[in-house]
Amino acid sequence: MSDVLTCRRDEFQLARDYHYFNCAYMGPLPRASEEAGFEAIRKKRMPTAIVPPDAFWETDRLRELFAKLVGVSEPGRVAIQPGVSYGVATAARNLPVSAGQNLVLTQEQFPGNVYSWRRIAAESGAELRMVGPGGGEERGRTWNERLLEAIDVKTALVAVPNVHWTDGTWFDLVAIGRRCREVGAALVVDATQSVGALPFDASAVRPDVLICAAYKWLLGPYSFSFAYFSERFDHGVPLEETWIARERSHDFQRLVDYQDAYLPGAVRYDVAERSNFFLAPIAKASLELLLEWRPERIQAYCRELTAGLLAEVRRLGYSVEAEEWRAHHLFGLRMPTSVDLAKLRDDLASRNVSASLRGSALRLSANVYNDETDIGVLAEVLRAAVR
Ligand SMILES: Cc1ncc(COP(=O)(O)O)c(C=O)c1O
Repeated sequence: MSDVLTCRRDEFQLARDYHYFNCAYMGPLPRASEEAGFEAIRKKRMPTAIVPPDAFWETDRLRELFAKLVGVSEPGRVAIQPGVSYGVATAARNLPVSAGQNLVLTQEQFPGNVYSWRRIAAESGAELRMVGPGGGEERGRTWNERLLEAIDVKTALVAVPNVHWTDGTWFDLVAIGRRCREVGAALVVDATQSVGALPFDASAVRPDVLICAAYKWLLGPYSFSFAYFSERFDHGVPLEETWIARERSHDFQRLVDYQDAYLPGAVRYDVAERSNFFLAPIAKASLELLLEWRPERIQAYCRELTAGLLAEVRRLGYSVEAEEWRAHHLFGLRMPTSVDLAKLRDDLASRNVSASLRGSALRLSANVYNDETDIGVLAEVLRAAVR
């Protein structure tokens, strides 16, 4: 297979006159995933099409696909959950934290990976360290350095993304993971804004928890997420005591022979009714596409697509993080002072360009369905904004 990915717009149903640079808000469903969803709904017309117990274990295939995407060697360590906050709460429930310790997070992190830690800090008396980029040049590099400096022997936990959700700043998780292991801190990664479009290698990062919602870069359904848990969580307590996570739950005739033991790995952390017959087939179809397209090729596609635009708008006075410290699928464009943000918002809307204004930056997030036409329209709006 060629190592260069070409545009995949045909595999989506995006209207030609819309220019969608907002996958960081929500990924569009590929045609194949939409079809898988319709097929799944049709199955419930006649419930005998949903055959027990096998149908209840089809989600095991999802664990395998997600594990493959992120370099996890044991798919049984991937739990099926309904959202990032759920995975973070699961982690928080099972990490001992005491007064005198500290928790390290990035500043303005997405709240799904913040609120549980705020509670833990308040209840335990531990210090919450929200590390920001600092001022000055080389923002991404400095932010990474400051994060590493904030981790010390009293750090119980580091909870970070792979790229920041507002502007795509990239965090060197291999270096952060190494530092965590030196001091014995747990590493909890929310990779919702990266996995799917940016390569992730769990064998290099070695996170304790890796969580990813499906509805953005995994191009999947809402209310569906994956969470990998390392050995550290093998004997933990789940948020819910589901029957299906118990040993011998395959045997539907003997479910009332109650079992104290859980199935191995992270299955105990599955949400109730994890075998979601409507959403799981959609998630599966999208994961299969992503594995075919491959994150490194998606990243290269986004880089190639946006390089010319960025070079041009830089000359117009816009600024963007250095390549080394940002992603290519998601980045923030900071405005020259002459740009009227309210007018820019209106102009983007009137040309059907979807992107998010975050503070004084325009968050652009591209994917394999974007093409030169989309870039051309976006460039016209950005050019007009500085006139
Ligand atoms: C980085 C990040 N994590 C998580 C989420 C969603 O969190 P949850 O699944 O808890 O709603 C988002 C949504 O924008 C996000 O950007």
